[in-house]
Amino acid sequence: MSKLPSLLCVVGARPNFMKIAPIFSQLSLHAETMSSVLVHTGQHYDAAMKDAFFEQLGIPEPDIDLGVGSGTHAVQTAQTMLKFEPVLDRVDPRAVLVVGDVNSTIACGLVAVKKKIPLIHVEAGLRSYDREMPEEINRVLTDQISDLLFTTERSARDNLLREGIADDRIHFVGNVMIDTLRNHLPKAVPVGETIAHYLPERSRSFDERAFALLTLHRPSNVDNPEILRKLLDAVAKISEKLPVVFPIHPRTRKMVEQAGLEGYLDNPAILPIPPVGYLEMLGLMKSAKLVMTDSGGVQEETTALGIPCITLRENTERPITVEQGTNTVVGSDPVLILSCVDDILLTGGKAGKIPELWDGKTSERIVDRLREKYFSH
Ligand code: UD1
Ligand code: UDP
Repeated sequence: MSKLPSLLCVVGARPNFMKIAPIFSQLSLHAETMSSVLVHTGQHYDAAMKDAFFEQLGIPEPDIDLGVGSGTHAVQTAQTMLKFEPVLDRVDPRAVLVVGDVNSTIACGLVAVKKKIPLIHVEAGLRSYDREMPEEINRVLTDQISDLLFTTERSARDNLLREGIADDRIHFVGNVMIDTLRNHLPKAVPVGETIAHYLPERSRSFDERAFALLTLHRPSNVDNPEILRKLLDAVAKISEKLPVVFPIHPRTRKMVEQAGLEGYLDNPAILPIPPVGYLEMLGLMKSAKLVMTDSGGVQEETTALGIPCITLRENTERPITVEQGTNTVVGSDPVLILSCVDDILLTGGKAGKIPELWDGKTSERIVDRLREKYFSH
């Protein structure tokens, strides 16, 4: 490995890939003064949950893959920690950078700080104030142990200050997800191609100008068969107004099968497809009449694209998407979901505006600050 001082970046799950891509590409511009090492924990491993993103987003193959895979929270977190520690010994980086709020984020962060290696958290300070969410625990704990905290919206600083984080560690830099979105929008795959690829028999009758897009994967929505059934029931009713394209997360696929709810997918107005690549997803989001989701990233991307978003959760850790963007937090009550869909179909939904510093230059600001703090001496 290179003798230059290094920054070790961690990814683990699908939403991490969009976040690391622009940072890694910025880091490559400084390869003469610092080296960058990419570790994939292996939390997500299916081709459709990992390889597709490395290819489409131009992320180099990870230097190290920990191959952790799936498990309970304790198993996944503990395995990641055990496998990450010797990597840190070997690489001896100046700092470790983690993104987002998944188990890989907190697991690697915890190992790094215990070895006295400064931790950098990208997308710090977001709070749903719902401790039932595993991600909320990961966010709070990662922020507590981070040396440098990069935030996507101004409210994040207030959250962090309330938790006793020193002001001078917090840097409002904007949203790296939007760097990725802007870099790749011209390459978005047209919806017709995506449907023809996954559902060739449905593609002739599919109207790409009139559909809704759905993603679902939060345990609070999909792990309880009753709640999942209620949501799929609402989706069935919505599909009477507008066909629904549904790229299905592996957790959700598994739960639909376990709960015996496959019948809901056997509906000519619902188009179930496997998880799609980022460029396919961009194409779907930008052409949809509306998006229904419980994803964090999709709430932000729809705001950036100006597409109405209905969040199927009781809260959001990304309030700017509601205050300034196109997002409406509706929860899982079918009556409220249907009435929100009707409203959007009638009025076109919230117009929204692009939040401050979601300008495509966030990774540049992050890397400038990193170089100044850790690599200028
Ligand atoms: C994880 C993150 C969540 C994030 C989501 C993004 C945590 C606690 N959760 O949730 O914050 O929003 O990723 O998609 O870190 N599976 C596969 N193939 C894969 C990966 C997973 O089949 O490549 C299946 C396995 O059955 C696994 C289940 O999906 O048990 C859940 O995967 P896991 O990574 O534990 O959580 P996610 O629900 O994906
Ligand atoms: N995404 C994708 N294909 C899909 C579903 C989502 O490329 O089938 C993208 C989405 O556009 C966003 C990211 O994955 O960039 C969000 O990841 P996810 O919803 O899995 O996690 P969250 O953001 O909720 O943590």
